[in-house]
Amino acid sequence: MTVADPARLEAIWKRVVADMKQVVRDFAITQDELHLAGDYFDRLGQSGMSRSLLDVGLAMTSVEVTGGSSKGTRQNLEGPYHRPHPDRPDGKLYDGSPPAGMPPLTVDGIVRDAHTGAPLPGARLDFWQADSNGFYDRSGAHLRGVVTTDDDGHYTIHTVLPHDYSEHDGDPIGELFHAMGKHNTRAAHIHLKAGIDDKVFLTTQLFMPTSTFLETDYVEGAVSDDLIVKLEPDGKGFKGTFDIMLDRQDAPA
Ligand SMILES: [Fe+2]
Repeated sequence: MTVADPARLEAIWKRVVADMKQVVRDFAITQDELHLAGDYFDRLGQSGMSRSLLDVGLAMTSVEVTGGSSKGTRQNLEGPYHRPHPDRPDGKLYDGSPPAGMPPLTVDGIVRDAHTGAPLPGARLDFWQADSNGFYDRSGAHLRGVVTTDDDGHYTIHTVLPHDYSEHDGDPIGELFHAMGKHNTRAAHIHLKAGIDDKVFLTTQLFMPTSTFLETDYVEGAVSDDLIVKLEPDGKGFKGTFDIMLDRQDAPA
């Protein structure tokens, strides 16, 4: 492991140990319980879910302290499943025909500068989402893609309604939450990164009002009213609107 700032790493390590010692004192944690936790971390590492557990517990706090004083659309956690996506000039996030058996969803809106309100042509909007059964395509580009705003700053995506998902039922994250008697379900959302050229100004999630987990998303603090897309039935599925405000003066690092 190579780090840019060894002194910062040492300071963080000492602080984490000091704070966790206080947890041991406060809860009178036994050595047997420490060993149970160690065994858990072994299983967590072997499952490849360490990043996801840190996201669940700490990413929203990280967003709050590193997101600056953005005047734009609220930042949210990126999650573990982003990767480079193809351009989708026609706005369709799927290849070929619309996926069968899933409610079609169209979302459109305007991308504006958060300070001036001016529409932003040429903004790149990178979307990725679960399908209507709550599953992500983890190997291909299904329900993933980049659309670019037109001369008026307008965008449209054609996709399917994402569903709530509890993807950790068979891994140590699900084990932890179930051991606490809690669910591990995310409210239905579409991930978004928005920027211009190669610069990303916004990473967030757009939530679906159809979700039954908006109040109880297990990532505390992720859902907020301003990130819920306004949807209405359009016969076959749903149509929604979501305008995006980019704060180009305060981009997170
Ligand atoms: Fe997600």
